[in-house]
Amino acid sequence: MAISVRKAVLPVAGMGTRFLPASKAVPKVLLPVVDKPLIQYAVEEARAAGVEEFIFVTGRGEATIRDHFGHDEALAAYLAARGDNAALAATAGAVLAPGSDAFARQEEPLGLGHAVLCARDLVGDEPFAVLLPDELLFGDPPCLAELVGIHGRTGGSVVALAEVPQRETGRYGIVQVAAEGEDGALPLAGMVEKPDPARAPSRLALIGRYILQPGIFARLAAQTPGAGGEIQLTDAMAVMAREEQFHGVRFNGRRFDCGSPMGAIQATIACAMERPELRQELLSFLREVTPSP
Ligand code: UTP
Repeated sequence: MAISVRKAVLPVAGMGTRFLPASKAVPKVLLPVVDKPLIQYAVEEARAAGVEEFIFVTGRGEATIRDHFGHDEALAAYLAARGDNAALAATAGAVLAPGSDAFARQEEPLGLGHAVLCARDLVGDEPFAVLLPDELLFGDPPCLAELVGIHGRTGGSVVALAEVPQRETGRYGIVQVAAEGEDGALPLAGMVEKPDPARAPSRLALIGRYILQPGIFARLAAQTPGAGGEIQLTDAMAVMAREEQFHGVRFNGRRFDCGSPMGAIQATIACAMERPELRQELLSFLREVTPSP
């Protein structure tokens, strides 16, 4: 029996320090990859997985995120008067249906786990998705849709994983695999946030896509600050993985860490290459700025 996941939490209340000064007045997730803000890619991925309600956990910059997903009558009228149907369609594509967006406030950036806990009342008592929009993922099927499919078979909680170099384990949550698993679903025994390479239980890292049981909220509420003095989602998931069904799924698509300028630059180039109207000019430009060997 397929279990649908109706709600997604998008935590976007972090300070985005790696993107200053750009992220000072504009939330990092509204920075564009080509011509679409990061957060819209995440919303589209969630929508493609069947999500119907989008819960944004915001800090500073909430109003601009609301504006992005809201209808702008003046802009629509301006574009319609000019007959600019492409721009009209692009702006309309960003608008979320009335009642399908909700906002929770995280007053202080006390960590990803704390941000998810802020969405507790809006999620209620059902399994829900979490997407970190600064991880930009392109997959076929899209990553969250794959998790939803596996969750339909396994139940419990399901997270996306990618193999990272041993020396980089200290930048991620790293999982401990319990058994081989079937059909791509790896049973997990635990996980640890930002382990030293020497102590990492594997090289499989959490990459910002999760389907979690609502029981995570009680674990988060009981959590004391972990790595970096923050309430870590990974710590609460580690408790849950010891007590309930918890699976990991290797993501085989392309991944860009757009929380850092280098990841965002790479994502922009990769996405522009896929656009026929941009590709040739971009290739010529890249040849021009690349020193010949
Ligand atoms: P990151 O650590 O990648 O984002 O958190 P950050 O803290 O904004 O960035 P830097 O490290 O300062 O450059 C992953 C996701 O979790 C959210 C962030 O907004 C991002 O989408 N987050 C993080 C919160 O919503 N609240 C927090 O307290 C921490």
